Order: sequence, then C-alpha cells, then structure tokens
Amino acid sequence: MFVSDCISVNEKGHLTIGGADTLDLANTYGTPAYVFDEGQIRKNCRDFVNSINDNYGGNGLVLYASKAFCCKEMCRICRDEGLGLDVVSGGELYTALSAGFPAEKIYFHGNNKTADELNQAVQAGVGRIIADNITELVTLDGIAKNAGKKQAVLLRIKPGIDAHTHDFIKTGQIDSKFGFALETGEALEAVKFALTHENLELVGLHCHIGSQIFEINPFVEAAEVMLNFYSQIKAETGVTLSELDLGGGFGIKYLETDTPRPFGDFMKAVSERVKSKCSELSLPVPFILIEPGRAIVGAAGITLYTAGAVKTIPGIRTYVSIDGGMGDNPRYILYQADYEIVAAGKANEERSATITLAGKCCESGDLIQENTPVQPVKPGDIVAVLSTGAYNYSMASNYNRIPRPPVVMVKDGEARIVVKRESYENLVENDI
Ligand code: LLP
Repeated sequence: MFVSDCISVNEKGHLTIGGADTLDLANTYGTPAYVFDEGQIRKNCRDFVNSINDNYGGNGLVLYASKAFCCKEMCRICRDEGLGLDVVSGGELYTALSAGFPAEKIYFHGNNKTADELNQAVQAGVGRIIADNITELVTLDGIAKNAGKKQAVLLRIKPGIDAHTHDFIKTGQIDSKFGFALETGEALEAVKFALTHENLELVGLHCHIGSQIFEINPFVEAAEVMLNFYSQIKAETGVTLSELDLGGGFGIKYLETDTPRPFGDFMKAVSERVKSKCSELSLPVPFILIEPGRAIVGAAGITLYTAGAVKTIPGIRTYVSIDGGMGDNPRYILYQADYEIVAAGKANEERSATITLAGKCCESGDLIQENTPVQPVKPGDIVAVLSTGAYNYSMASNYNRIPRPPVVMVKDGEARIVVKRESYENLVENDI
C-alpha cells in the first residue's frame, strides 16, 4: 500500500513508521522532523551483507555511502552491522571517527580532497583512499612519506558506462569530473604512477556509474570493463590487483510505479559475471566492495510537516504550504524528484485531492511535489513525505535562516532523538 515496508496505518487510521504513530511523533518532537525506522535500516544492511555472503562466498565488504545520511548514530548502526563506510569529506570522516567507527573500515572518496583532508585520513589510518586524479596522488604520496606510512589506495576509474538516470547523478561516462578515463589512456598512466611511488600501495580500482539505477546490466557491464582493465594492467605491469569496488547507485521505490529489484539480484548477476570473466582472463577472483547509500536509508525515512496555508487558484492548482521545504528537502528543486505524500491523520482514506506541496522559502521553485494525489488536507494537518531517508538531511541547508529539523529514530515502536533540532542560537553561533 505504501512505498516502504516500514510504513503502515494503525487502527486510528494514522500513518505509522516502525510501529510508531506519526501524529504522536509530530506531537512529541514537533515538525518538521525527519523520522527513520532503525529496524528497516538494519534489515537493508543485512540484505546487502547477505547478498555478498550468498552469492560471492562472503569475499567482500559492504560500504555504506554515508553521504546519503550521515550522523553519529547512523555510523554506529553501520559499525554494529559489520559494514564499512564510504566518506567523501573531512566532515564525514570526522563524524565517523567521533562515533568510534573503526578507521580501517573507512574508504575515503572525493574528486578534490584537500591536503588537510588527506592528512587527516592518513593520520587516522583509514583503510583505503580512493584517488581521483594525479594531483591527489602526488600530494598523498608526500603526506604518507612524511607520516612514515605506505597508504593503501584504489583509483577511481570512469568505465564509460551510460546508466539511465538523471544527468546530475550520472558519473560513469567520460564527460564527468570524477576519476580517470579509460579511453584516453589516463587510467593506465595513473596505475603506473601509483605503482612507482613507494608510499602508495595500489590494491585495486573503483567505479561508480550513477545513482537511482534500476537496471542490473550496467553494473554487470561495468564489472566486465573493469576486469578487462585488470587484465591489461597485469599484461603491461605484471601486477595483479586484488580488490574491485563497484560503487553504489541501487534504485529505491519513491512511487508505487517504481520497481527496484531485490539487492540480491544485483549481486547474483555481478558475482556470476565476475567469476566467469576472471576465469576467462586467468585472474584471481577479487575481493569485492559495494557502496549502497540510498538503498540502505532512503525508504527507511520520512519527513513530517504541518500544513499551513492552503491556496486554491481556480482552474490552476491548489497550493498546500508546509513548515519546511527546499531547506530540508532540496531534491524536487534540484532533480524534480518524485515523492509519495500522505495526510498522516487520514492515511487510510482515499487520495481524492490533487495538491502542490509548497515549502516556506522565498523561492517560487520551493516545492516538494506538484499536482500530486493526497487525502484532503486542511491547515494544521500533519503531512508525511515518504522515502526521504536519503539525500534530504544530508543535503539540507539553512536557506532563509530556517533551522534544520531533528532526526528521530524509531526502533520497535519506541522513538528517540539522534540529531537535535537546530535552534536560533545555533544559527548565529559562528556569527561575529
Ligand atoms: N559511491 C560513490 C562513489 C558515490 O558517488 C555515490 C553517490 C554512492 C556510492 C552512493 O550512491 P547511492 O547508492 O546512494 O545511489 N544527491 C543525489 C545523489 C547523488 C549521489 C552521489 N554519489 C540525489 O539526491 O539523488
């Protein structure tokens, strides 16, 4: 009935998440508020871990892409579930380390890591640094040398795969700011560079073809392209790389019409092709890494708002304005992203109204969804936007000096705050 298994309706007709009544949550924590079901997050983590165990003999590691939703509690959950972590900035790294995440299971990404960030990562002893360009390799080699360390690295490669998704979240094609291109010989040059610098230890390669991808084939093709390159590297340098990181990007359900495949299907298809390709190329089967972000948290989170002004423009549309908007969810203004919207107190009623859900920012494009079906909404009603667990909190801003909402975690019907609501004092605390 809803886009996520953790969402339901109780006997009062109220929307629930993880067994908790969303009207009670709104009452206790106020709105807007992000709410996650911890049980669903943990189940998603386990599904990914099991997919590697079942299809690939456990010869791999799931790295949660923390850019999707990063806070200390999320890092602790991933640590408990045995996952590694993909971080892309000093801030994500700092958050993970402050939560006690084991540094050796942290993989540091990014297309323009600063020298300070690289230093922070080397000093902390992160497991791998995924180098994106030669400038970074030069800097990293110097930093590792000064620290008296040999840093394990992967190189980010553009495999030239065109995944069918929004242009802004495509990354595997040659015209991308991320990584080394295969076609131009740049990638092979980078491999040779890394192999000849003594404070760098090249252990493998990484690719990431894009995000919110439903098809399995682009992942399989990317793995194949990468292994062909492993074979070329072996032939040209005599070196056999032992790790293969295939990135993230697994699509989730935002609307009823979205049809994501079970995670296991991706891993099954990829594992089969990796094993057959390795035997064809006489390569050892590599240790595999996958980096799901959205698929772990996206459908496990919702946002609760309170409806305010309702404005019907005859013959045009009805705007329902809420107490949040592009500051806490910039995905509609950025990508025209789809969302399912529910009037939380009437969740079992028919969606007989058509509304445009508008934010409260001074910006006409500040919308969450246009002309979408929902139960009739009046001022004061609690409105839930579903599948907001990924790239909402993590992409939130203070535009118009609106404080960011809290994050509430529900476990077996019990709720707790894991990120406090920002206060007006927080907004001015760095102002001089
Ligand atoms: N690994 C790498 C190297 C990535 O760049 C990303 C996402 C991931 C893993 C995780 O991808 P996921 O499994 O979450 O699709 N802000 C956009 C998404 C940007 C994704 C950036 N990289 C959105 O709101 O849709």
